[in-house]
Amino acid sequence: ALVSGLTVAGAALVGVEAVADGRLAGVAVAVVVLTPLAAFEAVLGLPLAVQYRQRVLRSAERVYEVLDAPEPVREPATPRQAPASPFPVVLEGLSARHAGQDRDALAGLDLTLAKGRRVAVVGPSGSGKTTLAQVLLRFLDSDAGSYTLAGVDAYALAGDDVRRLVGLCAQDAHLFDSSVRENLLLARKDATEGELRDALARVRLLEWADGLPDGLDTLVGEHGARLSGGQRQRLALARALLADFPVLVLDEPAEHLDLPTADALTADLLAATEGRTTLLITHRLAGLRAVDEVIVLDRGRVAQRGTYAELVAVPGPLREMAEREASAELLVTAG
Ligand SMILES: Nc1ncnc2c1ncn2[C@@H]1O[C@H](COP(=O)(O)OP(=O)(O)OP(=O)(O)O)[C@@H](O)[C@H]1O
Ligand SMILES: [Mg+2]
Repeated sequence: ALVSGLTVAGAALVGVEAVADGRLAGVAVAVVVLTPLAAFEAVLGLPLAVQYRQRVLRSAERVYEVLDAPEPVREPATPRQAPASPFPVVLEGLSARHAGQDRDALAGLDLTLAKGRRVAVVGPSGSGKTTLAQVLLRFLDSDAGSYTLAGVDAYALAGDDVRRLVGLCAQDAHLFDSSVRENLLLARKDATEGELRDALARVRLLEWADGLPDGLDTLVGEHGARLSGGQRQRLALARALLADFPVLVLDEPAEHLDLPTADALTADLLAATEGRTTLLITHRLAGLRAVDEVIVLDRGRVAQRGTYAELVAVPGPLREMAEREASAELLVTAG
């Protein structure tokens, strides 16, 4: 395990260099795997595949998929210098459409993320929430409208520079077949023991990690198979917190979590992101009184927006969602 661990760490460096050299286009990687962190993992598959072909077959497949993939995202020929700070992050009238689709997945969206502000995005499945995350990370081009970081056109910047300013903890955030520690170190390879423990504590995994047979050196299994869905997402969040992106986009998993687990996760996400500029994509309303703005999406358009208190006070989609959640809870309690 130690040897493979060292290989993972070494491979990460090789992978990053490959991206930097342009041997592997960062953007192409990003198209397939949805986070800069996961992007490390995809390039990781390359050297690993040579040595552990069987073990990392899936990663390897992904890499080949990536290398063969067309590049649907436009990159500037001569990227502009990225601003030191991205604030405010502004979308104006932004529309985006997935390849092969005949309607916009996001239509005319306005969004402002000022420093320290937290915005929640809710809405039914397919309403465009993940699409918004993809646009913010420059994984998907806009068709109309503008996207600026500190007043600079995000499309004039290198996609990788945008992804250093805006980070994602994806809906299906990926863990590799390595230890808890190595999964965290991907975010910041020079993190101290104290920083790792602090990140775990913030997502309420520290006690759990300390109770593991090998502590932080315990292996998580392929794709984190030895962890529960909630633990996987928490570990992915700890990694994203450690990476310390100026803006963090959290796409909560919709499936695999029972309601109490999902609500506890949201509560912990909100506690862990306090004071950080965050876009929280969530499927449940629990805890959203804590955010500055709630946006309700429906078929790619804003159906409603405002504070939770404002929205729940009037008839409309958010109140309907809240009522549905309350009655579902009654069913759960009664059952
Ligand atoms: N890669 C893709 N290719 C084509 N269409 C896509 C792709 N990803 C999403 N879409 C379409 O775009 C629309 C918005 O999807 P999106 O994934 O943003 O929804 P969502 O709100 O995140 O849903 P969920 O709550 O299920 O995660 C949907 O109609 C979906 O079918
Ligand atoms: Mg989604």
